[in-house]
Amino acid sequence: MKKLRIAIDGPASAGKSTVAKLVAKKFSYIYCDTGAMYRSTTLKAMRLGIDLHNESKIVKMLESTEITFKPSEQGQLVFIDGDEVTNDIRQEDVTNSVSTVAALTNVRSILVKRQKDIANDGGIVMDGRDIGTTVLPDAEVKIFLIASVSERAERRFKDNAEKGIHTPLEELKKEIELRDYKDSHRKVSPLVKAKDAIELDTTSLSINEVVNEISKIVENCQ
Ligand code: C5P
Repeated sequence: MKKLRIAIDGPASAGKSTVAKLVAKKFSYIYCDTGAMYRSTTLKAMRLGIDLHNESKIVKMLESTEITFKPSEQGQLVFIDGDEVTNDIRQEDVTNSVSTVAALTNVRSILVKRQKDIANDGGIVMDGRDIGTTVLPDAEVKIFLIASVSERAERRFKDNAEKGIHTPLEELKKEIELRDYKDSHRKVSPLVKAKDAIELDTTSLSINEVVNEISKIVENCQ
C-alpha cells in the first residue's frame, strides 16, 4: 500500500492534533506536530531572554537547537536539546507569543526545511498552518479543519481545566481570534486553505466522526 503524506491545517484549537494523532495511529503512520516546533523555538528564546522580534538572534539560536519528538503512552513527548518540554510549550505565555516568532521569515525557512526532511519517506500525518500550501504542497491528502470560535474556545477551556489552567472563556475567545488574525495576516506562509484541500467543519462533529471522515478520504487515495 502507498505510504501517503497527509497534511492537516487549520486555525487554533480546531482539533488538528487530536485528530491527526488518531489518523496516524489508524494507518500506522508517523505523526508530526509542526506547531510544537514553533512553540519550542518560542519557549527557548523566552528562556534565554531574547527579544521575540529579534530575527537574527532567534535564527542563530535555532541553528544550534535540536527539537525532537518521542512517542509515549501519554501522547507525543517534545524535547529541546534533550530536555523534555511537552507541557511547558503549552503554557499560556508561549501560546500568546508563538505567532510573533512564527511570523519571522528565516525562522520559518529553517523549520520548514526540517519538516520536509521528516516527511521525506511518506507515511506521515503532519499538522500545522502551512503544510498543504508550503511544507508539503504535493501531499496526497490535504485537509483543512475549521470550527466556530465559540466551539474552539470551549474545547480549549476544557483542555485547560484538565491542566489546572483557569483562563475565563471570553479571554480564550479573544486569544484565539487574535492568534488566528496574526497567523492569517503574516507575510510569509499565512494560514490559508490550500486550493486542493478538503474543508471539514468540526463544530458539531465528534472526534471519531472527524477521524472517520478523514480515514475515508485517505482510503480512497490508497
Ligand atoms: O498548532 P499550534 O496551535 O500548536 O501552533 C502554535 C503556533 O505555531 C500557531 O499559532 C502558529 O503561529 C505557529 N505555526 C505556524 N505554522 C505551522 C504550525 C504552527 O506558523 N505549520
